[in-house]
Amino acid sequence: MRILSGIQPTGLPHLGNYFGMMKSAIELQETGDALYFIADLHALTTVRDPEALRHNTREIAIDFLACGLDPVKSCLFRQSDITCISELSWILSTVTPMGLLERCHSYKDKLAKGLHASLGLFSYPVLMAADILAYDSDVVPVGRDQKQHLEVTRDIAVKINELYGEVFKLPEPLIRDESAAIPGTDGAKMSKSYGNTLELFLEEAPLKKKIMGIQTDSTPVEAPKPIEGSAILGIYRHVASPSDYAEMEADFLAGGKGYGDFKKRLFAAVWEYFAPMRESRKRFADDPAEVDRLLRDGAVRATSKTLPVMERMRRAIGLL
Ligand code: TYM
Repeated sequence: MRILSGIQPTGLPHLGNYFGMMKSAIELQETGDALYFIADLHALTTVRDPEALRHNTREIAIDFLACGLDPVKSCLFRQSDITCISELSWILSTVTPMGLLERCHSYKDKLAKGLHASLGLFSYPVLMAADILAYDSDVVPVGRDQKQHLEVTRDIAVKINELYGEVFKLPEPLIRDESAAIPGTDGAKMSKSYGNTLELFLEEAPLKKKIMGIQTDSTPVEAPKPIEGSAILGIYRHVASPSDYAEMEADFLAGGKGYGDFKKRLFAAVWEYFAPMRESRKRFADDPAEVDRLLRDGAVRATSKTLPVMERMRRAIGLL
């Protein structure tokens, strides 16, 4: 089984990325041939600062390794190092209906937020389809927000297969938590572009500050607190044991405890959850040259997996 996923270097990895994708990706590396990449070409649609792009790319690699990505079992690489992806993206774009891309929520959301409607932003899902199809991927662990992009990938693969015969495998998304995205500090989906993130390896004081700043309603201390839509519970669910989670939920419903108390419990749980990873992060952060070497090595191994697929595709469409 081949497993593939990517993350954009538009910022540092946060709890949404971890519980939406990275955790599953790391677990899945035990079960098959895993390919994980830093989607720097996708990030170019929004990041205009070259230094930030370089910095975030390396930091994401360090965070992923610290969280348990094994660079021997998995390939970890930069998307832009796999040069055939851009070629494949172009070929896929020639069969992609405009209407398919016009329906994409992520594009519409980005426009609504005031982003410039570039061709790259519009064709973002085609590049993503190239990422996935170039490796004959079977399973793609992603957060729920990427579900539509996986549907687009399958539609494009079907279109090519209808036109040229069986060229591409149809990938399956693997979505851990279908019901909800991990909420951010304002209760909306945690997202680098909303400024509501909790980064995995923030220092203690700024992390505490962010958690204590989680937006809550004005229910008085003594009254029961609503559990539906609570960002505190929505995050705590992932970092606490089931019994600790049940206890906090019961405390919400019982009343008599304030949000400050719940936030302190949440901070302690987040801090403890990532403690072992924080330790192993130091080792990678102290050796950036080794991280760069791992990325280069990952790119060489990943490229070799694209060769048979690209040859099959070029033959099928008449380029060979
Ligand atoms: P990106 O960088 O936005 O996010 C990386 C992964 O984290 C998940 N995620 C979340 N999951 C749950 N709750 C949240 N609040 C949350 N925020 C982010 C995302 O769903 C994603 O799985 N387009 C992709 C990158 C990409 C890619 C690919 C992924 C490029 N090519 C090919 C898979 C396959 C993206 O923007 O991810």
